[in-house]
Amino acid sequence: MPLVAANWKMNPTNLDDALDLARGILSVARGHASSIEVAIMPPFPWLVGVSEVLDGSGVKLGAQDCFWEMKGAYTGEVSPAMIQGLCQWVIVGHSERRVYLGETDEMVAKKTAAALSCELGVIMCVGELADHYDAGTSDQVVTAQVKADLANCSADDSARLVIAYEPVWAIGTGKSADPEHAYKTMRLIRKVVAEMIGAGAARKVRILYGGSVNSKNVQQYVELPLCDGVLVGSASLDAEEFQHIIKVTAEVYGHR
Ligand code: PGA
Repeated sequence: MPLVAANWKMNPTNLDDALDLARGILSVARGHASSIEVAIMPPFPWLVGVSEVLDGSGVKLGAQDCFWEMKGAYTGEVSPAMIQGLCQWVIVGHSERRVYLGETDEMVAKKTAAALSCELGVIMCVGELADHYDAGTSDQVVTAQVKADLANCSADDSARLVIAYEPVWAIGTGKSADPEHAYKTMRLIRKVVAEMIGAGAARKVRILYGGSVNSKNVQQYVELPLCDGVLVGSASLDAEEFQHIIKVTAEVYGHR
């Protein structure tokens, strides 16, 4: 089943707006819950409120990050055990955390293992920087990331594992990747995943595209043969935009 995930990042800035946005998304997402999986990732303080809005709808809730230990003296961190039961999904390794907070592949691998051990689904983000893209080294960079980030995973994790290919130069820039580049990189990711956890298990791992996805360009990504959905940032903050992304995705996969 395709996955359309809304990464709200550090938005909206108050609970009322967060609940309104969740209700707006839900109004359309609920009608498609049997054919596409929709997940909303609000900031931590809004998780409980948004979970009440989504309750019983089939629309999933996720966190934008988690720590790799379950409890203890880790000021400011939130453990997967704390969000287990509230969330079905968690994002790990988002490029904004890698760039602004120095998150490394080793940390991403530890977070992934911890989240999976708490029965959470993991959306692991990988993608090259603009410099890599310009230098033609995207393939090497993405291969190394996928290998390092999956270091603690096994075939048993495949059904709860999603890899989002998000070229960093396409995130929040309005410069979405050429679908051909997205396709080739997603194909490469699937090959590397197969090397890591076996070909059969790799087929169960869903691969998303992310980076300046909006209602106008979403079709060209979800139509790609290896694409299992999209991870959406800024366009998920506008209920109508995101509703449209859900509808287009449902239509494309309905014809597969
Ligand atoms: P964007 O963000 O859609 O605003 O480019 C995507 C993401 O960071 O997941």
